[in-house]
Amino acid sequence: MSKSESEADLVAVGGKFLYPNYRQPPFVIVRGKGSELWDKGGKRYLDMHGGIAVSTLGHGHPKLVAAIAAQAAEVIHLSNYFYNEPNIQLAQRLCGLTGMARAFFCNSGAEAMEGMLKLARRHFFDKGQPDRYRIVAFDSSFHGRTLGALAATGQKKYREGFGPLPGVTHVPYGDAAAVRGAMGPDVAGILFEPIQGEGGVLPAPAGFIGELRRIADEHGALLLADEIQTGIGRTGKFLAVQHEGVVPDALALAKGLAGGVPIGAMLCKAELEGVLPPGSHGSTFGGNPLASAAALAVLGALEAESIIENVQARGAELTQGLGDLARKHERWVSTSRGMGLLQALVLRDGVDARGVLEKLREAGLLISIAGASGLRFSPPLVVRREEVAEALAIVDRTLGSLP
Ligand SMILES: Cc1ncc(COP(=O)(O)O)c(C=O)c1O
Repeated sequence: MSKSESEADLVAVGGKFLYPNYRQPPFVIVRGKGSELWDKGGKRYLDMHGGIAVSTLGHGHPKLVAAIAAQAAEVIHLSNYFYNEPNIQLAQRLCGLTGMARAFFCNSGAEAMEGMLKLARRHFFDKGQPDRYRIVAFDSSFHGRTLGALAATGQKKYREGFGPLPGVTHVPYGDAAAVRGAMGPDVAGILFEPIQGEGGVLPAPAGFIGELRRIADEHGALLLADEIQTGIGRTGKFLAVQHEGVVPDALALAKGLAGGVPIGAMLCKAELEGVLPPGSHGSTFGGNPLASAAALAVLGALEAESIIENVQARGAELTQGLGDLARKHERWVSTSRGMGLLQALVLRDGVDARGVLEKLREAGLLISIAGASGLRFSPPLVVRREEVAEALAIVDRTLGSLP
């Protein structure tokens, strides 16, 4: 296929050769700048999707582009047989930002989850409690698609047909009494998302995360935070647990950490630093210089450009705007919820969410569906005030035009 192939031809070839486990719309995106994307035909889209909460600095951020290019020219990959400078700096930086003592690097959220689950099991194995491996997790959670992360995921649509997926008890999110009821001497850890992202952008009720910390402590179990979607400033603090002043025993990061370059990280407290000795766990690509340099550029820009302050300001506008839209279009919308730049406009049962998504796309707005009917907004954290306003106006017009 030549470079001049038409967009329609490309879509046809993609439809023929790519494994059909996704549902891409019929265009091909070729370029982005900030919170804007363009397809091969030249159509512009406002990106309130952010690559599923990944594109922290937006598209084509000069500092991220320069860091990737400079590191690629030095050395891209070494393996963990050798130290590399950006990875050492990144570990130190992340420990400082999260209050953790150690960082393990991998390549995706699911892989960070696997590392965290293995850490929990091995911790109790080392303490002479090999039967203490059960995890208490939550209904409607999402932790990834690998078998361990999938076992922790509390949604039938992701689990169906892939079982058995043992070792996890799921209880209703936000229900501390149910968590207490599920605890026992075989529980290694309580695993939670501060906001259930894929589950429909469901924030934890106030005080719930602190309650999980207390329950874990009472039972000598570990508190394991999945900050893969909520971390790296997305909710208006570096970690979402920081809104509640809670420090978990270990946490998983991925998505926005390197602004789109694949990366995952599992961080833990000093007490857990001896659990995974050399040879017990690893990853060929994990902590490679390229991804580490990209992550350092993201963390550097977050600070230098006051991006978390932007999340707070744009997040407040989004909260206000989505709330107004929910009231104005109550025929279609049941509620709005979320925090910072992870929010959703939840459509009523029976409204065709995919149909609405398609209409928004035609109008030039990219978002995604979370849960059954949440229109999820997870834009680049550098999104501008007028772009938030433009997105809200498109949603207003689109909902207003529904028959
Ligand atoms: C909370 C949470 N955990 C884990 C994952 C899995 O991450 P990945 O798709 O990078 O494996 C996701 C991805 O959506 C997520 O939102």
